[in-house]
Amino acid sequence: MTEKDFLPKPYPAAVAQGEVTWQSPSNIALVKYWGKLDHQIPANPSISFTLDSCRTTTTLKYSKKEKHSDNFEFELYFEGEKKDSFRPKIQKFLERVEPYLPFLKDYKFIIDTSNSFPHSSGIASSASGMSALALCLMSIEKQLDPEMDDKYFTRKSSFLARLGSGSACRSIEGELVVWGFQRNIYGSSDLYGVQFRDEVHENFRNYRDTILLVDKGEKQVSSTVGHELMNGHPFAERRFQQAHENLDRLKKIFRSGDLSEFIKVVESEALTLHAMMMTSQPYFLLMKPNTLEIINRIFKFREESGLHLCFTLDAGANVHLLYPEKEEKETSEFIEASLKQYCQNGQFIHDGVGSGASKLA
Ligand code: DP6
Repeated sequence: MTEKDFLPKPYPAAVAQGEVTWQSPSNIALVKYWGKLDHQIPANPSISFTLDSCRTTTTLKYSKKEKHSDNFEFELYFEGEKKDSFRPKIQKFLERVEPYLPFLKDYKFIIDTSNSFPHSSGIASSASGMSALALCLMSIEKQLDPEMDDKYFTRKSSFLARLGSGSACRSIEGELVVWGFQRNIYGSSDLYGVQFRDEVHENFRNYRDTILLVDKGEKQVSSTVGHELMNGHPFAERRFQQAHENLDRLKKIFRSGDLSEFIKVVESEALTLHAMMMTSQPYFLLMKPNTLEIINRIFKFREESGLHLCFTLDAGANVHLLYPEKEEKETSEFIEASLKQYCQNGQFIHDGVGSGASKLA
């Protein structure tokens, strides 16, 4: 499919007003998206586990404007309170998606959103938030075009979510989602995320992700600035190539169930992401002393227990702990006893792989 396939034909139906609610999860990348071209095209493919309990719920109320005006009319609420600080991001998103949703300026919107995870936990809410909003908008389009099929609905939701935040396009479906063209992954595209449909060994079923909240402060580097660091980065080309190689490796690992190989790829991806930030101009050091303490303790725990706990990181200090379901008991005991103390206020969130977004109303 190309971008043009997402431009709608004149709508057969009319809708005066309504309300829709979607709940959409966060996701955690195993091969990282870091670096992009214009129009939110990723510089390399990425793959992520869709999460289950870290979710954003968004209700969108819409009513037809009495008089047409050439601007977007929307009000924003976050956890019940008016949130004008989110306006620029939403405004930009609406501008980007308007060519694909030409009805946007015909309606007034009230967007009401809340997160299942603690406020300002440092967990990226842009993936769950942008995907939830994209799905709500698609539900309106579906009313205007009742014949739309489910596949198109899902594709276009991911396509629109990507225009809000790249990683958001991986939050529509579960359990493993690939975004970015990769030669040997069927259907993969730079324009939207697709479910990874190859064989996946049972070792990876219901994989666990415990998120350690090491630093809940404001992000030091916004993702926009972060991705820009890859423009003219001395190691960029090799890194983009490496992401393709790592995705290839993971494809084989998902089939074989080889957890030791899985760990090597996933941890190396996390450290490479941080290495890119440390070697860019300007440079950033986003790990905190406690991040390193946790990583070292994971290495030691693995050596002593023979279990398969590993870590990954996003562009921040928090640590995602990934481990197989059958090692859940010993691993969560270890987290309580030895890692919790390195979290801000002892906070962490037990989550796991989920099946994607769902419509609530
Ligand atoms: C480190 O999706 O937040 O989490 O497209 O600018 O919104 P924008 O970037 P964003 O970047 C996420 C980067 C990452 C890795 C990943 O999720 O793949």
